[in-house]
Amino acid sequence: MIDVQTLAIDPSELQARIDRLGNIGSHPDGGLYRALYDDGWVAGMALVRSWLDELGMATRVDAVGNLWGRIEGSAGGDAVVTGSHIDTVRQGGKYDGALGIHVGIAAVRALVAAHGTPKRPLEVLVICEEEGSRFSCNFWGARAIVGRIEPGEHERAVDADGVTIGEAMRARGFDPAHIPEARRDDVAAFVEAHIEQGAILEREGYPIGIVSTITGSRWLRVRVSGRQDHAGTTPMDLRRDPVAGAAHMIERVTAAATRMGRPAVATVGRIAANPGSVNVVPGWCEFTIDARHAEPEPRRALLAEIDAILADVARERGLELEAETMADHDPVPMHEEIRGILEEVVQGMGLRYLVMPSGAGHDSEILAPRFPTAMLFVPSRDGRSHTPAEYTPVEQIVPGVRALAGALHRLAY
Ligand code: HGY
Ligand code: MN
Ligand code: MN
Repeated sequence: MIDVQTLAIDPSELQARIDRLGNIGSHPDGGLYRALYDDGWVAGMALVRSWLDELGMATRVDAVGNLWGRIEGSAGGDAVVTGSHIDTVRQGGKYDGALGIHVGIAAVRALVAAHGTPKRPLEVLVICEEEGSRFSCNFWGARAIVGRIEPGEHERAVDADGVTIGEAMRARGFDPAHIPEARRDDVAAFVEAHIEQGAILEREGYPIGIVSTITGSRWLRVRVSGRQDHAGTTPMDLRRDPVAGAAHMIERVTAAATRMGRPAVATVGRIAANPGSVNVVPGWCEFTIDARHAEPEPRRALLAEIDAILADVARERGLELEAETMADHDPVPMHEEIRGILEEVVQGMGLRYLVMPSGAGHDSEILAPRFPTAMLFVPSRDGRSHTPAEYTPVEQIVPGVRALAGALHRLAY
């Protein structure tokens, strides 16, 4: 095992890169927004590609827009890959996803400077989309790599303006017919560095987290329909008000997750009433439910209880209910052996670390069933993420670079 403490890592350069990429893509209401195939995404990809080129990596963009930087190995074989996603949520921060790109670049750069050519090919992967923040689907980049984009999905997934992913692809010079060519089968291991996006590491004083399992998440789009009426002349007892029904559903769904206890969570991130006039009892109301649990059986119970609540309230109030599953991902365990390598490296650094489930979803959950995959976390200030307040001091990022470099050395050299 190498002494990762002697690897050359420049915190000020790391911070400068975080800030440069963190200034690309803005949301009109503040914070960061880089969405698949939008202008910020194009600019961000170009900036990161210039960094990979500077590293002397052979760079290529695959059929859906994932960016790959590769250093050939002296012995060839399947590649050891690190990286994360470049897209962000709306009004997001500059660490979610991007941190794994910065840490991956810094780790590979330090390794090659100190130890030269690896035995196995070593790659940095910049995944084109993970968040689902523009189109009605998520994990577009990772699913393309493992061949899990459904036939015709590019014609079904649309953004708020009705633009399909396929149309957005073509506008950037990608041909959806070539999506299957993004599939890879020659990856020996994938290791993703990411911010924790929660407060446990910071509160309990751990510099590093090592992920045991990535939580299972299900995204529902719920439409509750009633009867559109006049707000002034329609007595309360004669209404079929979908917003009142949705409010009752949401209260009971969030109470169910609270009652189940950590790590169960249920979130309504988006809600809209139609037609949305002050003096009109809405005809329909639409909202999303993001429900998660890291263990299969409690997750099944939580989802079943949510479905029952929606149906019960709709029936009690004479409302129509439509629920569309936008995404449904089971909990995914990380690879024992690579997790063990990460633990040994961090132990060798003399650092405390916490083996913990991830409450956030990650590209690693999509890649793990196909390639040996593991994740490491660095702390998030106040546990904040998916907000412009997202922050990790660079001195808390450097140990993550060293830990990742140690693991990549074990895997690729
Ligand atoms: O939603 C998530 O957990 C991830 O940040 N996409
Ligand atoms: Mn995220
Ligand atoms: Mn992320």
